Amino acid sequence: MTARAEPAPARTLAPASALTPPRAPAPKSLVLACDLQAPGSEAAARAILPRLSTGDQERIARLGRPADRTRSVLARWLALQAASQLLGTPWTALGLGRRRLGTPYVVAQPHLSVSMAHSGRYAVAAVALGGRVGVDVEEISRVAALPDSAFLTPAEISALPPVRQGGEPRAMLWALKEAATKLTGEGLRAGMKRVGFRWRSGTRGLSAARTPYTAGEFTVCRLPGGYVCAVGMSASTPPSAPLFLETERSDFFMYPEPENGGPEPDGTADPDGLATAPRSEQDAEEPDAHIWLSVN
Ligand SMILES: CC(C)(COP(=O)(O)OP(=O)(O)OC[C@H]1O[C@@H](n2cnc3c(N)ncnc32)[C@H](O)[C@@H]1OP(=O)(O)O)[C@@H](O)C(=O)NCCC(=O)NCCS
Repeated sequence: MTARAEPAPARTLAPASALTPPRAPAPKSLVLACDLQAPGSEAAARAILPRLSTGDQERIARLGRPADRTRSVLARWLALQAASQLLGTPWTALGLGRRRLGTPYVVAQPHLSVSMAHSGRYAVAAVALGGRVGVDVEEISRVAALPDSAFLTPAEISALPPVRQGGEPRAMLWALKEAATKLTGEGLRAGMKRVGFRWRSGTRGLSAARTPYTAGEFTVCRLPGGYVCAVGMSASTPPSAPLFLETERSDFFMYPEPENGGPEPDGTADPDGLATAPRSEQDAEEPDAHIWLSVN
């Protein structure tokens, strides 16, 4: 008898989905802002300060002007709120650290990128998962007072209207450049004129732009009161404008507090520093020399 080979078992085809290499999860991001002119911002900052890390509390206590302290507290709170939303973790369980060159990060969350900015009446923070992020907010009048040659490339200058009509696009370019240098972590050491921006073709208005300086998509928008805000993301398209959080709402702590309180609550900060400074100090909003003076 000749042995007959057993028929090979029919091979079941793997579903198409199993043959497709898994794609990296889509990056997620959030850009949040606070308007310090909205009621409740100082009270919110006072309540938030003791919940920040010891390092942040100490850094904020060293700031001379109450408004700077309020802006810094709220920017950190926004960063923690955004991180909390992306991670699904109470913000009070998260803490911020600071890398050697100044880039902020969320402790024990290396896959999150964080960026913060504060100027005048605004605090802004952007957080992204799976890509890098940079954000900036600027007052138009401060940038319009700068000479073009201090921060713009010849190509940018030739594409701009005269300063009298062109304060806003100039401020937008400044904010875009600063957002790009925060995204890379270089900061203004990068040199503003090394970071040339081109408005993206096909976009209406001056809202989306790219730079050969770093990979990524950038958007910029105007904010009430003569400000602009720019955001850059390396792995996704940033939103066209930040989402505003209201500090006046009694539920501004978006998540319940964890039982052990916030990170490193050791009470070394001066929680009164935000509100009890004499009025004259609060009013002393002297326009400091713009940062470009020290880096260009
Ligand atoms: C980063 C930099 C562009 C911020 O500019 P700014 O207009 O003063 O401040 P903004 O409000 O826009 O941003 C401040 C935030 O940027 C972040 N930041 C600081 N250094 C950063 C860096 N290298 N990369 C990314 N983000 C940085 C911090 O979160 C900071 O917030 P904090 O001061 O509350 O901690 C600027 O400080 C810089 O380039 N620093 C590095 C160069 C330097 O130290 N020069 C000496 C002074 S000119």
